[in-house]
Amino acid sequence: MNLPLNISALSLQLPPASPQFIDLYRPNSDAQAMHATVQELTEALLAPAAAVSPKFFYNALGSKLFEAITGLDEYYPTRTEAGIFEAARTHIAATLAEAGIHQPCLIDLGAGNCAKAMALIPHLQPRQYVPVDISVDFLRDAAEQVQNNFPALDIVGLGMDFSAGLALPGEVQAHERVFFYPGSSLGNFHPGQALQFLEHIADPAQGKARGLLLGIDLVKDTARLEAAYDDALGVTGAFNKNLLLNINDLLGSDFDLRQWRHVALFNARESRIEMHLEATDELTVRWPGHERGFRAGERIHTECSYKYTVPGMTALLRQAGFNHIEYWTDPNSWFAVFWAAV
Ligand code: AVI
Repeated sequence: MNLPLNISALSLQLPPASPQFIDLYRPNSDAQAMHATVQELTEALLAPAAAVSPKFFYNALGSKLFEAITGLDEYYPTRTEAGIFEAARTHIAATLAEAGIHQPCLIDLGAGNCAKAMALIPHLQPRQYVPVDISVDFLRDAAEQVQNNFPALDIVGLGMDFSAGLALPGEVQAHERVFFYPGSSLGNFHPGQALQFLEHIADPAQGKARGLLLGIDLVKDTARLEAAYDDALGVTGAFNKNLLLNINDLLGSDFDLRQWRHVALFNARESRIEMHLEATDELTVRWPGHERGFRAGERIHTECSYKYTVPGMTALLRQAGFNHIEYWTDPNSWFAVFWAAV
């Protein structure tokens, strides 16, 4: 008997599954986390040389501003890295297959809008995709987007500050883990922290990672580097100043954005771009229980973005415990993508 029901047509009409989402980062809602955030920011602002962690860039507006930065002419890293992945993705997929890695669990650190992973997913064919980001609501939307594009993919979104540790919940597949850390975000760690972070991923005691796919920005001429962090449109300046708005929200402080100037410079000795916010006048910032005076010209250090050489990054990966390393660069050698196997 023929049923008047077309099963395949019916299944095509079903909406895609929703991604799972686990929020382990709630500085605004969890009293203990909020207290820790207030304490961290208070210490950062009261230090003789005030310096705030760049993780505070990424509130909802900050994530959108960062997305805008990645499309700027001056900000070459995103498109250069995308070009490397486009040229090398078949080779990368073959490299993983040769290492016996099939249908991995792809853990996307600092996933943001998940655009980079979406370009790789058809080639790496992960069994599970785990986007991780501190910008929770932004990530939730992005994970939905990935699910719409790949309805059958098992997705576990993780709202998490992984700079504080990488303890992954039980929902994350325990085998064939491939960490994906693109966009040169490792460059936002100081080299000692970067080493620790890499060691943590490579740690055989964890026994779970098969390898790391890493995108890292390379040393180049100062003018190009500084333009990338001080664009003509002022988007990076807005991204930097938005950190003060986020601090006002988290701390109840009274930073006035009109009294601060964006500064970006390449510190060649340390091989890093530094971003600062510079007080244009003598001023005082107040928040519950505290105040901090700034002289005109005094700065708050908001970000370091370290630039590596290929030999330097290769040595760091080896030191961290990775034993098979390959890399791809663009024709100008501005950026590199590394595959580091445990
Ligand atoms: C996220 N990170 C890799 C960016 C960078 O280039 O260091 C953050 C950024 N800061 C200013 N522009 C972009």
